[in-house]
Amino acid sequence: MFLVPLHEIYADANRNNYAIGQFNVSNLEFVQAVLETAAEIKSPVIIAASKSAIEYAGVENLVTMVKTGANSISVPVALHLDHGPSLELVVKCVEAGFPSVMIDGSHHPLEENIRITREVTDYAHKHNVTVEAELGRLGGIEDDVNVDTKDAFLTDPDEAQRFVEESGCDALAIAVGTSHGAYTFKEKAKLDFKRIATIKKRLRIPLVLHGASGVPKELIDKLTRYGGKIADAKGVPDEAYRKAVQCGINKINIDTDLRLAFAASIRQVMIEKPEVFDPRKILAPAREAVREVVKQKMKVFGSSGKAEPVRPAEGVTYDKCY
Ligand code: G3H
Ligand code: 13P
Ligand code: ZN
Repeated sequence: MFLVPLHEIYADANRNNYAIGQFNVSNLEFVQAVLETAAEIKSPVIIAASKSAIEYAGVENLVTMVKTGANSISVPVALHLDHGPSLELVVKCVEAGFPSVMIDGSHHPLEENIRITREVTDYAHKHNVTVEAELGRLGGIEDDVNVDTKDAFLTDPDEAQRFVEESGCDALAIAVGTSHGAYTFKEKAKLDFKRIATIKKRLRIPLVLHGASGVPKELIDKLTRYGGKIADAKGVPDEAYRKAVQCGINKINIDTDLRLAFAASIRQVMIEKPEVFDPRKILAPAREAVREVVKQKMKVFGSSGKAEPVRPAEGVTYDKCY
């Protein structure tokens, strides 16, 4: 199947209340692991590349790898720019063949975020490209954080409504307590589920959860067993994914968990098989480890088995896309 615009994948997820995994990649093994798993368990999938992934691998290489892989399987695949910093990079990605982009103006004041996002949606929608934007600042909700402070960085429902109406974005990343990397929570995971549901009821558009890696104990144990150093890392537990999806999240971004699985597996081979120096013998088990993570996520997010032939879902008008 060809690469598809993300709004086509979202339509079914939004209507049927499940989430699609976004898996970040920057090399061939990650692309293979994600696409092969999506095909195996019949899940729609989003492959994402950040600015630094694009700098590392090259935009043409990424597009070619993902398109080649997507064409050889029969599930819907979207290729997405993650945390796009500027219209310039958005244009570069769209011209290279990305059907979906994120513009991240969340560090700017509201008016400026709206202006930057509007500029991107005006351009992207002319090319049938889906736009995700972000409002609020990612960060953990600690017990000693008072309500006013919390409201200052988590996404405000009133602002979200105005932001979506004025920016024209198709999907919104919201801040509800998660943060990027392996150290998301100090103690127990805390997500503001009520805030997700409140925003969803107002907007009804796909909502996105960033900084969503689970940082599972088995991966941390494996990494440390083979010499890795990663103390006190804590992420989002499976139960929280399920609840977030029930409250209206339709896309869940995973990068760190794939990196942990990949790195732990490489460490294992290097330590247990010091005689090995063929990169394929080092990278193949790491690719398999990434596959396992992707498969588990797709099952928990509810996207496995959902790869129907792409068609506009009944009652969905795509009004917000043009
Ligand atoms: O959300 C950020 C992603 O994990 C991308 O990270 O800039 O290291 O590729 P990166
Ligand atoms: P993690 O670092 O939790 O995997 O988050 C990834 C992400 O949000 C990519 O946009
Ligand atoms: Zn992110």
